[in-house]
Amino acid sequence: MTQQGFTLWFTGLSGSGKSTLATYLLPILKSRGKNVEILDGDEVRENLSKGLGFSKEDRDTNIRRIGFVANLLARNGCVAVTAAISPYREIRDECRKKAQAPFVEVYVEASLDVLEERDTKGLYKKARAGLIKNFTGVSDPYEAPNSAEVVVHTGNESIEQSAAKILAYLESKNLIAKK
Ligand code: ADX
Repeated sequence: MTQQGFTLWFTGLSGSGKSTLATYLLPILKSRGKNVEILDGDEVRENLSKGLGFSKEDRDTNIRRIGFVANLLARNGCVAVTAAISPYREIRDECRKKAQAPFVEVYVEASLDVLEERDTKGLYKKARAGLIKNFTGVSDPYEAPNSAEVVVHTGNESIEQSAAKILAYLESKNLIAKK
């Protein structure tokens, strides 16, 4: 019998910890018997969405592609973990509506203050200086989810705490086996 697949859809500002959480969860989900693929924002833009920029139109195309691939994986028993900013609620909801397997949205919340302070890639500084246009959270919108299945606050939770919340939710819905 095919395994139960699902999409684990991370959304949040740049640097909020989407990729870090996805990478942290990968071996844990595997240890619970799951096949897992990560569709990481930066990686997708290097491959599936090469050439796309950051206009609303290009972001929407990028997110629709991620949603399409995630669905193919999820409906065939894989856990598709997506880690793109995915700033527009409407497009995230569209991906959810099209999903043929459970769709679990995780809002990776962190305040702009915290992210600008961290600025791991140095991009917020550049955005503030006007060197990067349309930067999400600075000069481009980010629409937070209204009813994400899980919300994690990476500014004041450890990665273990955030991951535990997500795993507890997945267990409660019988999407993964309990440890
Ligand atoms: S999305 O809006 O289409 O979901 P995606 O997650 O693929 O974005 O890419 C975001 C990453 O691209 C950021 O983490 C950052 O490294 C880089 N980036 C470059 N320009 C921008 C920009 N204008 N806005 C946001 N992120 C940008």
